[in-house]
Formats: sequence, C-alpha cells, structure tokens
Amino acid sequence: MKLNKNLILIGMMASGKSTIGRLLGKRLNIKFFDTDFIIEKKSKMKITEIFEKKGENKFRNLEKKIALNLINNKQSIISLGGGAYLNKKIRDAANKKCNTIWLNWNSKTIIDRINKKKIKRPVALNLNDNELKNLIINRSKLYSKAQYKINCENMTKTEIIEKIIKILNL
Ligand code: S3P
Repeated sequence: MKLNKNLILIGMMASGKSTIGRLLGKRLNIKFFDTDFIIEKKSKMKITEIFEKKGENKFRNLEKKIALNLINNKQSIISLGGGAYLNKKIRDAANKKCNTIWLNWNSKTIIDRINKKKIKRPVALNLNDNELKNLIINRSKLYSKAQYKINCENMTKTEIIEKIIKILNL
C-alpha cells in the first residue's frame, strides 16, 4: 500500500521502534527505514564505535542529516533513534510532515530492557537505574509532543501493530 504521509515511530531506547516498524512495514508492504541502521551502514561503524571515536556530536549531526532526509523525501515507516526526536528541527519537521507515534512503556520495563544490552547503548552505559529513570522522565516531556501515544505495557507486538493500523486508518 501507499502512505500519504511518513509514519514515524519515536520513544526511548528499547521501546521496540525498529521491531514494530519492520513488522508493520512487512504487514502493509511499506518500506521501512531505521536511522541507526542507515548511520551504521553509511559510516561503516557501529553506533558505539561512532560515539567512542568521533563523539556524540558527530553522531547527532549524522542523525539529523539522515532523519531530515527521510522525513522530507520518503513515504515510508521510519524508526528514529531514541535521541533524534529531542532535536527541535527533527521534531518540528516530523510533526509537520508525518504521523508521529510514541511507543510508551513503564520506566521499569525500559530500564530492565536497557540493562540487558547496556553495552550497545552508549547513552545509557554509565547511568544507574535512578539516572535512567530521570532520563526517561525528562525525555518523555518531549516524546509527548508526538501526535499519538500508545501505552504498550502488556501489549503484544501484534496488538501494537493493530493499534497503529487502527489509529491511522491504514
Ligand atoms: C540513542 C538511542 C539509540 C541510538 C543511540 C542514541 C539515544 O537508538 O540512536 O545509541 O540517545 O536514546 P535506539 O532508540 O534505537 O536504541
């Protein structure tokens, strides 16, 4: 099918944006893009390596370029890395031109998931549970600017996908 607007999934690390985006894309036969995947492919480095060797600023610049390019050019499903939507330019462009959906979970669920794969998440690497909780609370203030919010707690992947289809009348 064809979307008349991009569909953007936002939310914290480990909120399932990439998994849900990919499954939804398959289900509806719509192209799916993941900003982190594109960044890794283009720079031929893993995200952790970019943070280590080039620094977070360089990563955020790459992220901004790739996210804005996707937002402006494609009619697709896009998963934004957890920090991307915090950037005002990306957020404004996404809200103006796309349907934005926040995949929201209880803090504890996100913290437990992050802790399982902390090594892959440079932003979370040196944070304890309390600091992670504060990060979630602070970021949620901006995530809440998305047009739609799905409280995913206790929902299966299929239920989340069905909910998106219903919300957007796809
Ligand atoms: C980040 C989230 C990551 C990745 C990078 C920074 C963040 O993406 O972009 O490690 O600042 O929240 P996911 O949300 O896909 O884990």
